[in-house]
Amino acid sequence: MNAPAKERTLAVIKPGAFKMRQTGVIISEIQSKFAIKAMLMVTFTEAQAKAFYAEHATKSFFTGLVEHATMGPCVVLVLEGPGVIQKWRDAMGPTEPMLGTPGVHLRAKYGYGMPGNALHGSDSAEAFEREYDIVFPQPKTVEKTPELTAVQALVKALETTPPEAMATQLVQEAKESTVVPPAPGASETAGG
Ligand code: RTP
Ligand code: MG
Repeated sequence: MNAPAKERTLAVIKPGAFKMRQTGVIISEIQSKFAIKAMLMVTFTEAQAKAFYAEHATKSFFTGLVEHATMGPCVVLVLEGPGVIQKWRDAMGPTEPMLGTPGVHLRAKYGYGMPGNALHGSDSAEAFEREYDIVFPQPKTVEKTPELTAVQALVKALETTPPEAMATQLVQEAKESTVVPPAPGASETAGG
């Protein structure tokens, strides 16, 4: 079966590589081979890191992995294309950088051990969905205040009313809402 053209994976330039100022050159290498569809700089919270690496929760290296993931900013990219999950893992090379070839594998070129192996890649479509939801902010619901309703009404009116008519209407509304100052001497008269 052919791989779906819209297959996506999550690539992370991990905090160690970010700290070593390798972000730019790594993005450049990624872009030369992959289609980048989204990118985000983020510092993982402990909760995010624990959820992101939940499958390793029982492993001895989990604490160190979470510490590394939260130690500073990282850059998260969404890559897209047929077979991109495996292609990105192939480009990264072995998890342990020492086992790869620097001229071939990005982790071997930019990593310095584990967990400082510079890069992450999703290992399945399901993992991508889960990781994406942890990292990328979810759309927020906006509270419908009277001010928002008024602005929405104005935007709608601007779409349907010719600009000149709208200008005349707005000037008229401004005039009507203007508070007229009392005539000179009016306060003495009113106050007796
Ligand atoms: P990743 O999830 O980061 O793309 O890496 P991976 O699939 O190649 O490797 P995985 O087994 O999922 O491990 C996740 C990350 O944990 C660190 N690790 N440390 N024995 C160790 O000390 C050890 N094993 C794994 C690595 O940083 C690895 O990327
Ligand atoms: Mg993994």
